[in-house]
Amino acid sequence: FHSMNILAIESSCDETSAAVITNGNIRSNVVATQLIHTHYGGVVPELASRAHQQHILPVVDKALNDAKIAKKDLDAIAFTKGPGLLGALLVGTSFAKSMALGLDIPLIEINHMQAHVLAHFIDDPKPAFPFLCLTVSGGHTQIVKVTGPLEMEIIGETRDDAVGEAFDKTAKLLDLPYPGGPLIDKYAAQGNPQAYPFPLPEMPGLDFSFSGIKTSFLYFLQKQVRQNPAFVQENLADICASIQFTLIDILLKKLKKASRETGIKEIAIAGGVSANSGLRRSLTELGAQLGWNVYIPAFEYCTDNAAMIAIAAHFKFAAGDFCDQTVSPLARMEF
Ligand code: KG4
Ligand code: ZN
Repeated sequence: FHSMNILAIESSCDETSAAVITNGNIRSNVVATQLIHTHYGGVVPELASRAHQQHILPVVDKALNDAKIAKKDLDAIAFTKGPGLLGALLVGTSFAKSMALGLDIPLIEINHMQAHVLAHFIDDPKPAFPFLCLTVSGGHTQIVKVTGPLEMEIIGETRDDAVGEAFDKTAKLLDLPYPGGPLIDKYAAQGNPQAYPFPLPEMPGLDFSFSGIKTSFLYFLQKQVRQNPAFVQENLADICASIQFTLIDILLKKLKKASRETGIKEIAIAGGVSANSGLRRSLTELGAQLGWNVYIPAFEYCTDNAAMIAIAAHFKFAAGDFCDQTVSPLARMEF
């Protein structure tokens, strides 16, 4: 019996990552985070592409070494086709294509947002089909109805900013370095979430909006700082707790609605913002209240990583779903 070894590569944003999966089990997962962007208050696409170019070879080598797999034992190469920054995606895609060509093995293209959802199939417990997944990242906010490993449908999404973007942009207004989401999370732990109430957006159906909350937060801050220039320093924990509370409230209200409308009580979260401790706690509490089975990924599989690309590739390999050398990455990509 020959085991199936797949190398997976992720390069859609500011993490260069490679992982090896054997018969559905993750053998290694190496992530190189680009720290250069902290100085700029956001990811600078050109710098991201260059950093991917520098990191990709050592990251892939380490993933193979950690897994104790030789290149000649690989059966396929998977890569993130999109969505993401085009220049960043081109580095991973070109690398994967060259390696597959050299080794004469098949290529597997992966949708990054589908991979976030499928991260739930790396470890136990795994959700049962059908389940709902709230995918929350720096670029996306989606409620996905998942009926099979490769069958999923977006039933609600943001009409403007992503929730991760709302975290990062409010953090920027507070002079916190990029990415601000984890820092808001950290300061919020010591604050009062009811200190400053913010209005919730009115959005029909299962869609989201986060641009209004960002603006009302800006006006709130300008007004407070006019009255007290030290407002932010003196109240940082309460400010972070209040903004985090509001963002979580928006997310969970829609998730509740989605569960009610679909009758599905298998509920998962995924994506970078699912690392947020307030969201994890609130979802666990809400789930207990409503009789949901709640699935929260391990921290390492919340933010961008190649292990999730690898598990998605495992399902595509089993389905015989390969692509050819003419494939090109896509900045915007549907399911
Ligand atoms: O999935 P991800 O790593 O990259 C994208 O595909 O966008 O998500 C990154 C986003 C950033 O906006 C970051 O601030 C946010 O996830 N994030 C958090 C936390 N950890 C990461 N937001 C709130 N609380 C956290 N603990
Ligand atoms: Zn992501």
